[in-house]
Amino acid sequence: MEGRSKQIPLLLAIVLFTALSFWVNRPAEKNGLRQHAHEVGRESPECRECLEKDRDKRIALLRSTDYLEHYIQNVIIHGSSQNLGFAYGPMQAGFADRDAAPKIAAYVVTLSGRKPTHTEWIKEGRTFYVSNCGGCHGEDGRGVHGTFPDLTRDPLLGIEKRIKEALELKR
Ligand code: HEC
Repeated sequence: MEGRSKQIPLLLAIVLFTALSFWVNRPAEKNGLRQHAHEVGRESPECRECLEKDRDKRIALLRSTDYLEHYIQNVIIHGSSQNLGFAYGPMQAGFADRDAAPKIAAYVVTLSGRKPTHTEWIKEGRTFYVSNCGGCHGEDGRGVHGTFPDLTRDPLLGIEKRIKEALELKR
């Protein structure tokens, strides 16, 4: 009899442990495997796959013309202080009006042979570009080596930096 009563706490412990491991390994309700793996604090092979998928998606986005247009508009509106390594230093904000920014961006993407979302803005964008940006980046967009960045480059330096960061995310 004595031996049996000693087994009860042990049995209880086993039951509790089993229940706990079921709870810890329960499938995530909403966001699927990724959330599950992160909650549990370990990486399952499936989770690695979804992380890679996320990363590839992010890189595809960074390489898209859509992103490039947004990037250029952002630089025009907010300036660029990314330490891209040019002797001039950062680029101030406001060389062109906020309203003109999407049009200028539509023109600038053509410098690297891309087709903007709004092709009808290219002509007007070029006029703005020549008077507001050409002084530094050159009328042809090729910049001045070491002083002003080349805007015909694809990807642009700031975007290339982001792509590299995304590639290094997980390894
Ligand atoms: C006074 C000179 C000057 C003018 C004018 C100027 N920029 Fe810049 N621009 C720079 C410099 C310098 C940088 C690099 C800054 C850095 O390191 O972040 C830069 C960076 C950029 C970048 C990022 C380049 C990259 O490779 O990631 C873009 C895009 C850009 N400029 C577009 C424009 C546009 C469009 C205009 C006109 C509205 C303009 N700039 C006007 C000097 C200028």
